[in-house]
Amino acid sequence: MYQKWISFGVVILYVCNSVVSLENGLARTPPMGWLAWERFRCNTDCKNDPDNCISERLFKTMTDIIVSEGYLNAGYEYINVDDCWLEKDRNTFGQLVADRQRFPSGIKSLSDYVHSKGMKFGIYQDFGNYTCAGYPGILGYLETDANTFAAWDVDYVKLDGCYSHPSDMDSGYPEFGFYLNQTGRPMLYSCSWPVYQIYAGMQPNYTAIVHHCNMWRNFDDIQDSWASVESIIDYYGNNQDVIVPNAGPGHWNDPDMLIIGNFGLSYEQSKTQMAIWAILAAPLLMSVDLRTIRPEYKAILQNKRIIAVDQDPLGIQGRRIYKHKGIEIWSRPITPLYQNYFSYAVVFVNRRTDGTPSDVAVTLKELGLASPTGYRVEDLYEDVDYGILTPQTKIKVKVNPSGVVILRADVQPDFNRRVPFYTTQRTPYNPLNQVFRLRSNDF
Ligand code: GLA
Repeated sequence: MYQKWISFGVVILYVCNSVVSLENGLARTPPMGWLAWERFRCNTDCKNDPDNCISERLFKTMTDIIVSEGYLNAGYEYINVDDCWLEKDRNTFGQLVADRQRFPSGIKSLSDYVHSKGMKFGIYQDFGNYTCAGYPGILGYLETDANTFAAWDVDYVKLDGCYSHPSDMDSGYPEFGFYLNQTGRPMLYSCSWPVYQIYAGMQPNYTAIVHHCNMWRNFDDIQDSWASVESIIDYYGNNQDVIVPNAGPGHWNDPDMLIIGNFGLSYEQSKTQMAIWAILAAPLLMSVDLRTIRPEYKAILQNKRIIAVDQDPLGIQGRRIYKHKGIEIWSRPITPLYQNYFSYAVVFVNRRTDGTPSDVAVTLKELGLASPTGYRVEDLYEDVDYGILTPQTKIKVKVNPSGVVILRADVQPDFNRRVPFYTTQRTPYNPLNQVFRLRSNDF
């Protein structure tokens, strides 16, 4: 947090030199929560559609369900307003005002409600003259708006980039971040800075973005379709050399919301989105109607073992390590480590459309899992424990069309010191016992 005595001139100098690191202590793991946009859009028609319009009622209802239905326990802690919450005009002091009909109690009251349920509250604004849906943006009011958000006890600000010049963003996004920090209230800062610059043909300065933002959008808005999810998966795979190194505790790439439980994804495709988002160390922001979600989709969103991969404390984003004839393998280094060996989450994706599951057979070593002490391998969707496998073991998985198999491989400590450790293990279950060639001294 900055000292109040730093003069404006000094601040501008800091901003220009990109030496100000956000370091607000937030988002040590990827943020998790609920965000209105993908599912509820800019529905302002509370007269005809009171249950689904962007209103304080919608956010209170979702808050209640997140708490009562176990989502908060699973880690989803932010409830985030997106576009279309504003009046079209600022008040006479130049401050933002929430739509008086749809948010009659005001944003501070909504934020209090969210906090009273043990959750955190996020809001949306835009660096330009207008938000993407045409409501007033922050340009010309950066300090005022940061102060307003702090006064409303906001915990998270998504700052979009419509109606602004992408070339102004290199100074504008850090400047607003400075004003957020200056309020003294920790507010997670979600930026759209790189995506608008990429659209404008610029190369984003990720060093600066990592310094100033807790998360940022790199690519297109997610839509309610498998084609959209596939295009995002491809973007992150095809651009991983540029993107992956920027992720880490406090700063994350954001491939956009989880659309699991909506209309566009099958059950298999929903499992794929969750698994790949975990590999990407992505923020997990559900955008779904939690009042009507079917239990099998809720179970995907609340899969604790996949959430644990997403939230792994090392914060290393994973990569696509194989892509051939519609089969992809993605892997992410995670904790625990033993000596210099990581544990891994590994996702096998079947992008093929011929309607039968595909077999994939590979040794752990081919996946880069080379610790001579071996790995304990389990499936994170199915209740399958493969036991402890050596790097030479060939594993074989069946992957459904547009679906995944996601495995977790925990590196084992030294075999010779195994007694206290292994006595706590479940009996290894090997469903594919013809495939594994375990050495006789493995157990
Ligand atoms: C942009 C953003 C979306 C959403 C809309 C709101 O398109 O990328 O996530 O916030 O604006 O208008």
